[in-house]
Amino acid sequence: MSAPASASAASAAPAPAPPGGPTAAELLDFALRTAADPAIVGSLPLDPQGRTWIRLDGPCGSEAWLIGWPPGTGTGWHDHAESRGAFATARGRLTEHSLAVRLPAEGWRSLELAAGVDRSRRLEAGTGRAFGEHHVHEVLNESASEHAVSVHAYYPPLPLIRRYSRSGAVLGLEQVDRPEDWQ
Ligand SMILES: [Fe+2]
Repeated sequence: MSAPASASAASAAPAPAPPGGPTAAELLDFALRTAADPAIVGSLPLDPQGRTWIRLDGPCGSEAWLIGWPPGTGTGWHDHAESRGAFATARGRLTEHSLAVRLPAEGWRSLELAAGVDRSRRLEAGTGRAFGEHHVHEVLNESASEHAVSVHAYYPPLPLIRRYSRSGAVLGLEQVDRPEDWQ
């Protein structure tokens, strides 16, 4: 019988990546565990003048980053295309503004958001959040004095980041960044 032999061989191999990659909940679990690791968090150089980041080994082929946020810095509005993801605050506190709406995929440069789609949350150290595909948000360190550090993970690895301007209810598509722009 060949079945037992193949089962044995499979059990001796490293655990395969789950089909479809890690879930957003698994990415959040990674982000929270990593944010609670003082050795990893402490390895990030901090710069009072701007954000800093280092690449981490994310679970199951995901893309992960450790990011430092001086007071008053933020990402601007953006999304992560078809990648799902999660992030967790390790130090300080971050604010996330997000949109509870799915944007049209293509064919627009400017659109007016409906009333009531804005969401906002604060993420204290030790907390995080997961998000699905096409999540639109901006992340800020609104503190006047305290540096923040956070852990981010995405799957699939980011194919692109769309960057938006925001003026009241009007969202404008400004730029599309590719991996060579941030790696
Ligand atoms: Fe983001």
